[in-house]
Amino acid sequence: MIGVFDSGYGGLTILDSIRHELPEYDFLYLGDNARAPYGTRSFEVIYQYTLQAVQYLLRSGCRLVILACNTASAKALRTIQQHDICPETHRVLGVIRPTVEAVPAVTKNGHIGILATPGTVSSGSYVLELEKVFADVNKMQNFGTLHISQQACTLWVPLIESGEYLSEGSDWFVEKYLRELLRQDPQIDTILLACTHYPLLLPKIRQSLTRIRQENGNGRLPELVAQGDIVARSLRDYLSRHPEIENSCSKGGSCRFLTTESADKFAASASVFLQSPLFRESPLAAEHIEL
Ligand code: DGL
Repeated sequence: MIGVFDSGYGGLTILDSIRHELPEYDFLYLGDNARAPYGTRSFEVIYQYTLQAVQYLLRSGCRLVILACNTASAKALRTIQQHDICPETHRVLGVIRPTVEAVPAVTKNGHIGILATPGTVSSGSYVLELEKVFADVNKMQNFGTLHISQQACTLWVPLIESGEYLSEGSDWFVEKYLRELLRQDPQIDTILLACTHYPLLLPKIRQSLTRIRQENGNGRLPELVAQGDIVARSLRDYLSRHPEIENSCSKGGSCRFLTTESADKFAASASVFLQSPLFRESPLAAEHIEL
């Protein structure tokens, strides 16, 4: 089984793409919905919560766990990889590195905006990884100087977890953070949705960006980079390079869902995040767990 973890529903946007790309594998999803959002919590708390979830997935038979959560990837991944798991038998992967590796092919001017939770922004992980990746690209392409701007979108995850993200009131908060990002650097041509919840806001983000651009003389809209397909392709590549892990992942095409919240509440909300026809085959059932 491949374990997929997020603080709540956001990781389902990653699971959706992974399952589409790799339908033959068995998946176990764990959403810590009862304790979401993680994005405003301290390093220690995010690390402890993430470790508990990873250990649960490993105990449940997963040899490989994907942290489908940028906040957990930024704050807990490295410590867990270095101190808490045995790499001979188990692997834990994050979503930041694959996302960052996709950026050089997208930006034309090196002006990059990052939309993320306060925890991901304060970790500086995206800035660090982008600088590393572009340092390599620069050697090859002489790309030029990199301009990275980060914007914490504190209320986006709570709006999504509460189901309020489609309400008119949420428009105001979507636009607020986009304006703040573009105020930092009006030349941004590439925006990373560096939180797995944010693809749910894509239609509103596009509308807001169009409005903002119209006010400023109709410039080109920035490219929006969502993570699902990027992470899915990167996982396929990882499995092909690591046959010892790949061989231990069972292949029955199943998918189970665990949540720390009420199972019925999870099942009712989760389907919004899952677009792949694979998830239409049977009604979604979830299981409540305690971490
Ligand atoms: N989906 C998580 C992420 O990618 C949201 C974190 C949170 O719970 O605030 O960062």
